[in-house]
Amino acid sequence: MRIAIANRKGGCAKTTSAVYLCMAAWMRGIPVRLYDADPQGSATLWYDLASDDKPLPFDVIPANVRSVSRIPDDCLSVIDCPADGVGGCGRFLGRSCDQSKAFAVLHGALPAQ
Ligand SMILES: Nc1ncnc2c1ncn2[C@@H]1O[C@H](COP(=O)(O)OP(=O)(O)OP(=O)(O)O)[C@@H](O)[C@H]1O
Ligand SMILES: [Mg+2]
Repeated sequence: MRIAIANRKGGCAKTTSAVYLCMAAWMRGIPVRLYDADPQGSATLWYDLASDDKPLPFDVIPANVRSVSRIPDDCLSVIDCPADGVGGCGRFLGRSCDQSKAFAVLHGALPAQ
C-alpha cells in the first residue's frame, strides 16, 4: 500500500506526518519505507540528522516524479510529497494515486489541524 502525504501548501507538516506515520507503523511491526519525493530533501535530512544520535528504524529513499511510479508494493510505502511550486505536488499526488491500492492523505493547513 502506498500513502502519499500531500498538500499544496508548504510548511503544513507533510514531512513530520510522514516520519511519524512511518514510526507508528514500525512500532506496530508493519514493514515500512519512507520515500522522499521533495527536492528539498527534508525527510532525507531528518534521516541523516537522526543517524548521529538515534537512527530511524526504517529506510528513507529519495524519489522523483518519475520513480514515484515504480515504488514497489511489497510493504507500506509512505511518500513525502513536495508543496506546490517545489517539484509540483499535483504531479506527485496524481502519479501516486494512479497506482492500484494507492491512498492520499490530505490534512489541514496548520500542524494542529
Ligand atoms: N504537530 C505539530 N505541532 C507544532 N509544530 C509542528 C507540528 N508538526 C510539524 N510542526 C512544525 O512545522 C514546521 C513544518 O513542518 P514540516 O517540515 O513537516 O512541513 P512540510 O509541510 O513538510 O513543509 P514543506 O512544505 O517545506 O515540505 C516544522 O518546523 C515542524 O517542526
Ligand atoms: Mg516537507
